[in-house]
Amino acid sequence: MRKKVIAGNWKMYNDIPASVKLISELKKNLAGLDLKAEVIICPPFTSLDTAKTLIKDSAIMLGAQNMYFEESGAYTGEVSAEMLKSTGCQYVILGHSERRTIFKETDELINKKIKKAILSGLNPIFCVGETLEQRENGTTESVISTQVSVGLSGLSAEDLKKVIVAYEPVWAIGTGKTATPEQAQQVHVFIRSLLRKLYSDEAAEGVTIQYGGSVKPENAALLLSQADIDGALVGGACLKADSFTSIIKSA
Ligand code: 13P
Repeated sequence: MRKKVIAGNWKMYNDIPASVKLISELKKNLAGLDLKAEVIICPPFTSLDTAKTLIKDSAIMLGAQNMYFEESGAYTGEVSAEMLKSTGCQYVILGHSERRTIFKETDELINKKIKKAILSGLNPIFCVGETLEQRENGTTESVISTQVSVGLSGLSAEDLKKVIVAYEPVWAIGTGKTATPEQAQQVHVFIRSLLRKLYSDEAAEGVTIQYGGSVKPENAALLLSQADIDGALVGGACLKADSFTSIIKSA
C-alpha cells in the first residue's frame, strides 16, 4: 500500500510572522488526529528555519520549493541541497511548471537537481504536466513521457524509491479548473506505465504520484479516491490552515 502524501506548496507567500501564524494554526488543527497521510509544508526559503523549530513536536514534515545542483560556489541567489538539509528539509519540489515556464528550467537541469537532491538525502517532489495547448493538440502523453524519462534519467530503482512524482496539469494550476478525477487518474496510470517500462512493475507500484492543480476541500476526496492518485500537491488552498486541514482529512 502506498502511503498518501499531502504537500502544501506555499509559493512566494508568507513572510515570517504570517508563516508562524499559519504553522501554529495547522499544528493546532492536526493535534490529536490519527493521520493516515504524510503531511509536508513547503514554505519559502526565508521561513524554513522558523518552520523547522515550529514543527519539531508535530507530524508535519518540511520541504523546500527549489534548489541548485551545485554543492557551493559563486551562484548568486541559489541555495544548495546541503543548505536545505541543514534547515530541516526532507523534501524539495523540483520541476514545478512555474520554474519551467517563468525561470526557463529545462528537463536536463531538473534531472541534475533531482540527482543531487537524492545524493544529498533529500526526497524530490518531481513535477510534470502538460499545458492547455498541449492537451488540446493531443500531445499530453508525449510531453509527459519526455519530462519523466529525461527528469529521471540516470536514476536507479533504489533512487526512484525516494522520488514522489506530482502530476500538475499547467492549465489547472491556480485557475480554479481542476482536472476531473477521471482525467487525472488516466494520466497517473500513464505515468505509472512509463515507470514500469523504465524500471519494473514493483518499482512503479511503489511510487507515490500526487495530483496538483486547484485541489480544494470540495474536490479533494473524489480525486484522492482514484486508485493511482496517491496524494495532492496543494497551492492556494494550503495557505489557509482550515482548508489545508480539510484536504488532509480527505486523505
Ligand atoms: P493551486 O492549488 O493554487 O492550483 O496550485 C497548484 C500548484 O502549483 C502546487 O504546486
